[in-house]
Amino acid sequence: MENETQKKVMLSGIQPSGELHLGNYLGPLQHWPAMIEAYDCYFFLADLHTITVRQDPAVLRRRTLNLLASYIACGLDPEKCVLFVQSHVPAHSQLAWVLDCYTMFGELSRMTQFKDKSARNADNINAGLFTYPALMAADILLYQADFVPVGEDQKQHVEICRDVASRFNNIYGEIFKLPEPYIAKVGARIMSLSAPESKMSKSMPEGCVFLLEKPEDILRKFKRAVTDSDNERCVRYAPREKPGVSNLIQIYAAATGNTYEDVEREFDGKGYGVFKPAVGEAVVEILRPIREETERLLADKAYLESVYRAGAERAAAVANKTLRKVYKKVGFLAP
Ligand code: TRP
Repeated sequence: MENETQKKVMLSGIQPSGELHLGNYLGPLQHWPAMIEAYDCYFFLADLHTITVRQDPAVLRRRTLNLLASYIACGLDPEKCVLFVQSHVPAHSQLAWVLDCYTMFGELSRMTQFKDKSARNADNINAGLFTYPALMAADILLYQADFVPVGEDQKQHVEICRDVASRFNNIYGEIFKLPEPYIAKVGARIMSLSAPESKMSKSMPEGCVFLLEKPEDILRKFKRAVTDSDNERCVRYAPREKPGVSNLIQIYAAATGNTYEDVEREFDGKGYGVFKPAVGEAVVEILRPIREETERLLADKAYLESVYRAGAERAAAVANKTLRKVYKKVGFLAP
């Protein structure tokens, strides 16, 4: 079924297993508001996926709502895209079961994420962790998505989705659209403030600035940011020799809308003691409206509920169409 607008369909799932940070924001997230204008977008909180590793129920519930509020605060207007919670649309689990039966043990065994995660959670290598890619394929195929924005770590999952979809289509006809991975052209790669050789990550909280963090904590993290051990002590962009300073330049440039040269010029002759707090202040300023809006939304539970209910309804209308076709093709008796 073609959608009425004829726009291409873009879909992305986000696991509510952590908090958003500056790296997420200056990377992909900042560009999403523009994407919802250009594509028919579906964004969902992939809560079904998160329980492949143990979660604290209260924390999971809180994070799901927090993340929903943060996304809206970052400019994902729920009137312009379909924003929902995966477990609210039963078709995801229903199609996942069918796809489980068209996904091979050998294929799943080769997934690098499965190998990594089972090594890290040796005491909980559950069947869900293993069949996770079939659920993710269901997420994508239900909406006949054209594009799935992915990082390196998820590319293999989009590939297996295509393989499973083609296998199904070869047997039953053109039921599923084959999705393309969508690699963002823009978006900064923000590094950790405490270990600038690694990407900013919530697993290294000292080097990570969270979207909802208090200004004083953000400033403190920037004041302590690792610069470099050379004696030059000057603000110059040179990612190899000066990874820490270059990362701060990148952050400052992204936060203020300046080029790297502008930043170098602005801090020419000034030391890190001036530069680091200035970057902190700039980050506090870009995050302030997001934090305030997130807090405002979180205080309005009735509004958030209305958003995810409406989102689930719109999503289910599309998803159920695909599911009904699939059920019919495989030979299930119509209820
Ligand atoms: N597996 C993705 C991740 O861990 C989340 C996800 C679930 C997803 N379903 C998806 C991403 C569908 C894109 C499309 O980040």
